[in-house]
Amino acid sequence: MKLYSKILASGSYLPKKILSNSDLEKMVDTSDEWIVSRSGIKERRIAAENETTSDMAYAAAMDVIAASKLNPSQLDLILVATSSADIIFPATACLIQKRLGLTNIPAFDLQAACTGFLYAITTADAFIKSAAYKNILVVGVDTVSRFIDYKDRNTCVLFGDGAGAVILQASNEPGIICNEIHADGSGEEVLNVKGHLYNGAVRGNPYMYMDGKAVYKMAVRNLAEVAASVLNKSGHTTDQIDWFIPHQANLRIIESTAAHLNIPMEKVITTVDKHGNTSAASVPLALDHAIKSGKVKRGDLLLLEGVGAGFTWGASLIQF
Ligand SMILES: CC(C)(COP(=O)(O)OP(=O)(O)OC[C@H]1O[C@@H](n2cnc3c(N)ncnc32)[C@H](O)[C@@H]1OP(=O)(O)O)[C@@H](O)C(=O)NCCC(=O)NCCS
Repeated sequence: MKLYSKILASGSYLPKKILSNSDLEKMVDTSDEWIVSRSGIKERRIAAENETTSDMAYAAAMDVIAASKLNPSQLDLILVATSSADIIFPATACLIQKRLGLTNIPAFDLQAACTGFLYAITTADAFIKSAAYKNILVVGVDTVSRFIDYKDRNTCVLFGDGAGAVILQASNEPGIICNEIHADGSGEEVLNVKGHLYNGAVRGNPYMYMDGKAVYKMAVRNLAEVAASVLNKSGHTTDQIDWFIPHQANLRIIESTAAHLNIPMEKVITTVDKHGNTSAASVPLALDHAIKSGKVKRGDLLLLEGVGAGFTWGASLIQF
């Protein structure tokens, strides 16, 4: 009998502090009108000074575990997608494993910037399909604010912090139908954080650099292509999709991708206005909000998409 990875439950966490466009107007030369018209973002959440990526990941993990009704001891693997781990090692996944009171299951981080969650569910799906594991906790989390220069208006208005999570469970009923992930390392210079530890000090720019126009073009082109490919491979058409849940980077990118795919905006989940771009957390946060608000229902066909630094990009077609 065929094995699928089914989304058993979802969870999320957002820091309390809201950074609004009017707050940003006091910090850099920008305006609410500029930010909303270019990105659709009205506010974003920022982690407290003493709040870490693993704190947010743990909160989202507790939320999804509660929703799943599983006991943490039933988890077989923890996978965390992040590019803002608290420390170089141990991995964020190990830090939350400890807080969940687990000592005997594998736990690791993977890094694909804003596409991290798509990479993580693709990896988890392969483990489930190979019958290696039955219940996998997948978290997408980022504290992007840690490497944003709040004097740089090109980047600081677009990003926020948060965490989202799912538990994927082995099932004979359709769940994840098709995944596709891509990378093109020639995009390195267009979106990066090059700072790193060297000989006891930070070497290189510790803040994000972004060529917004280049990223925009790459995002729209690749997202439309990968979505069409996933649909094609699995024999589905866009009109069968109940909900399109794209990476929440920018409303214009989302609208443009939806238009390319002929998906009406009524079928598109958007949280970018309230969350900004939360990198690896963006897709699972949007998914969790759509599930908890009652929009996404059991049996619905979902198209998830991600795009980010690397460049990396990917899509998943999922029956919820
Ligand atoms: C960044 C982005 C919103 C800019 O929009 P745009 O349409 O390219 O920008 P415009 O051409 O209208 O404006 C550029 C000008 O606005 C200025 N500008 C940049 N940020 C600004 C801000 N926050 N407020 C006001 N002006 C700003 C620039 O300095 C530039 O000024 P100049 O023309 O004098 O050099 C857009 O390119 C984008 O969304 N890119 C993708 C970003 C993204 O999603 N990254 C993450 C991917 S995972």
